[in-house]
Amino acid sequence: MYKFDAVINNEFIKTESQLEIINPDGLLVAGTVAALNAEQINQAFQAARAAQKAWESESLLKRISILKKWSNLLLEQKEALAQIIMAEVGKSHSDAVNEVMRSVEYMDATFEEAKRMQPLSLTGQDFGVANKLGTFEHVAKGVGLAISPFNFPINLAMSKIAPALVMGNTLVFKPATAGSLTGSMLGKLAVEAGLPAGVFNVVTGRGREIGDLITQNKEINFINFTGSVDIGHRILDIATSKDIVLELGGKDPALVMDDSDLEKYASEIIVGAFSYSGQRCTAVKRVITTNAIADKLVPILADKIKKLKVGSPKDNAFITPVIDMKSADFIWELIQDSKKDGAKVITGDKREANLIYPTLVDFVTTKMRLAWEEPFGPVLPIIRIDDLQQSIEVINKSNFGLQASIYTKDIAQAIHLAKKIEVGTVNINGKSQRGPDSFPFLGVKDSGQGVQGIHEALLSVTRYKGIVINY
Ligand code: NAP
Ligand code: G3P
Repeated sequence: MYKFDAVINNEFIKTESQLEIINPDGLLVAGTVAALNAEQINQAFQAARAAQKAWESESLLKRISILKKWSNLLLEQKEALAQIIMAEVGKSHSDAVNEVMRSVEYMDATFEEAKRMQPLSLTGQDFGVANKLGTFEHVAKGVGLAISPFNFPINLAMSKIAPALVMGNTLVFKPATAGSLTGSMLGKLAVEAGLPAGVFNVVTGRGREIGDLITQNKEINFINFTGSVDIGHRILDIATSKDIVLELGGKDPALVMDDSDLEKYASEIIVGAFSYSGQRCTAVKRVITTNAIADKLVPILADKIKKLKVGSPKDNAFITPVIDMKSADFIWELIQDSKKDGAKVITGDKREANLIYPTLVDFVTTKMRLAWEEPFGPVLPIIRIDDLQQSIEVINKSNFGLQASIYTKDIAQAIHLAKKIEVGTVNINGKSQRGPDSFPFLGVKDSGQGVQGIHEALLSVTRYKGIVINY
């Protein structure tokens, strides 16, 4: 059993009430974290505010040297962190270790990129104003609030934390409840690494109880949120700060345009759809293709899906129990609804508590919920279309606009289609994915606002400060 306190102003805060974190694999308690009250939450923001100017005044290299100690500790504690991730979000051991390593690499790459964030130097010459010279420096925005989702408890936390802190901001970090053991461990390691008091504060508690309170705190200068559309929109409605980056849900389509290499396409689609049991924002969440191609593709997909290892993260299974029973019920409901409406389950459609077997559903039509809603679980619908024009309509009719993938040998046609698809990024002959982390990552429509990715994240936590010399 893990037991973590919250970290505010480098002090470990004990609370009367605690939050139980449930292991998805077996649904037993994995540990507890602090359930903070309003006063303690406010103290976290006050501490962040009090520390901010001094932290920003340190040289960039000094900030990096302190943060580097933190990334080294993450590396040293790689196995311990992986065990916590496995216990609280049900990731396989290899996925958990990869996530820790990806986060350490993210931190290091962010520190290197921060050194390249040089000021702009401009003259007024272009506009006929010869006597002006301006420098425009990237300066910290101040106090940030970072809120992360459950599915990548270190990576989607660190991709907010590292850019903010290295550029001289201070932070209040609210991890997802399933993710709070990992988030609290990050706080503990930050103290051990020697981050000054108040620079990084971890607040834990249920989002539905403390969410509104934290997003409305007057000290906040900017918010970076990753999670569901509903909560993202709620934050937009009520947050005090209007400087908000949102990375929200998706319904990423895979458009299969020809049958030149269906074996290869199918393998890529399966990793895209089913890794971490489909609990990725960028998971392939619908396949769109013609009748003729579907007739050949579906048996290949089914064959490969049947070979996926289903079971416990402890056995390094590929498909593991989804985060909780509520999510499993929702995924199950989408599958059962589609069946009632005439879709045909090809494989899967089996459930043991919150373990959903990987499910392939053919003949999903645009009248079915499964065509539009995000299951966030191991289910892949096939939507059959008549022609390419119809595929663009089906893709763009979605409220989501995170990513898409196109599979074809005809690269020229793929590029023409990619330009018409309303998403942040189109992947040609590869699954949708956020990584590599140096690529700009964004969603349009309900999938988000603002841009992540190492360079863009640094821009999002800074503003220009201009100084103009008239001579
Ligand atoms: P979620 O339920 O929206 O929760 C996300 C975070 O918001 C958690 O920390 C949650 O805390 C907190 N929260 C809940 N209510 C809040 C409120 N009223 N105010 C402020 N914060 C609040 O999402 P999730 O289930 O963790 O993650 C799955 C969703 O995230 C999916 O829709 C997925 O597509 C999306 N996602 C998007 C990306 C992307 O980059 N586009 C990446 C990963 C995931 P509690 O856990 O305590 O409720
Ligand atoms: O859920 C989201 C996402 O951040 C995972 O990253 O690179 O596997 O798409 P990636």
